[in-house]
Amino acid sequence: MQLYSRFLRPVLFRLGSGDAEVAHHRTIDALRLVGAAPGASTLRRLFAEDAPRTVFGLRFPNPVGLAAGMDKNGVALPGWAALGFGHVEVGTVTWHAQPGNPRPRLYRLPASQALINRMGFNNDGARALAARLRTAPVLPMPLGISIGKSKITPVENAVADYRASLVELYPYGDYFAVNVSSPNTPGLRGLQDRGLLDELLAELTGEATRLAYRGVPKPILVKIAPDLDDAAIGEVIEVCATRSVAGIIATNTTLSRDGLAPADVATGAEQGGLSGRPLARRALEVVSFVHRESAGTLPVIGVGGIGAPEDAVRLMDAGASLVQVYTGFIYAGPGLVRGISRAVRATGAAPGDR
Ligand code: FNR
Repeated sequence: MQLYSRFLRPVLFRLGSGDAEVAHHRTIDALRLVGAAPGASTLRRLFAEDAPRTVFGLRFPNPVGLAAGMDKNGVALPGWAALGFGHVEVGTVTWHAQPGNPRPRLYRLPASQALINRMGFNNDGARALAARLRTAPVLPMPLGISIGKSKITPVENAVADYRASLVELYPYGDYFAVNVSSPNTPGLRGLQDRGLLDELLAELTGEATRLAYRGVPKPILVKIAPDLDDAAIGEVIEVCATRSVAGIIATNTTLSRDGLAPADVATGAEQGGLSGRPLARRALEVVSFVHRESAGTLPVIGVGGIGAPEDAVRLMDAGASLVQVYTGFIYAGPGLVRGISRAVRATGAAPGDR
């Protein structure tokens, strides 16, 4: 971790004269190379820490996943495997390829170990992702695919838009995350409302059952916003239970600006979703609430503000079966992945197989 924060991070953070997205693209490029190198599987043996568990019917080598949004187009999968991740969630992908919002659209808030982004689902589209995954090497960990609504599709046609992505990508994912919680696509978060969510999930779980023929349908999860109140989360849980949703991913980025360091207040005025340390407390509350309200029946992937192994252990103690990292990975580097697996194994924080 020292090596990363002392040498690599300063170089990465200086790239692009302040446009944080440049560092993002360089990181993905580097991981693409790492993954294609002959020694990639040896690297995984060095980095990966075994802490296996079975969650919603899938076997995970360790509890630490890469959160959606980092590798939207699934271009560096063997690279993430080499870094020791226990699963990767690609996307969010939409049915139509789209450029996302104008740049700059990603900001660092270093004093708060946070980011603000308003990327707006920039991605190559579901068909391009499917074509890439068709020829991708077999991975040593489960692959999640996050799907969202195309910007040009009106909210009243959202169900068909999500369904088209699910059908196209169904053969390639081990689980699917229904993203109804990004703050950067107008109207998207409204799909968390009981009626619309029920309609959407009825269609997607029904489609998964059809696509599975007589086999077991692949797990469908729902990713929720940290800005929902308890009553709204309670409704989401009820809908998930009736529609046989396999789990909840909690949480996406927040519109709140609570907890920013004074040095970051000016950047905090940028529009978009806040991630990283200031989100940690709310993510923990939501994970704990979902675990309690569902009486432990709905597996939770805890994500939000994990910057150190203890943060992940706290989320797992609160009921998360798995965790994911994004912003913490940017600030702490790849050592975080192994550190979390070790800490979880040492504390026995895993709530056991579900
Ligand atoms: C994200 N996140 C995200 N989530 C999602 O479901 N689909 C997406 O496309 C994206 N895109 C995205 C881009 C960027 C630049 C960031 C920083 C985040 C949210 C992410 O997966 C995660 O839920 C939050 O960032 C909270 O976790 P961290 O970053 O605090 O570990």
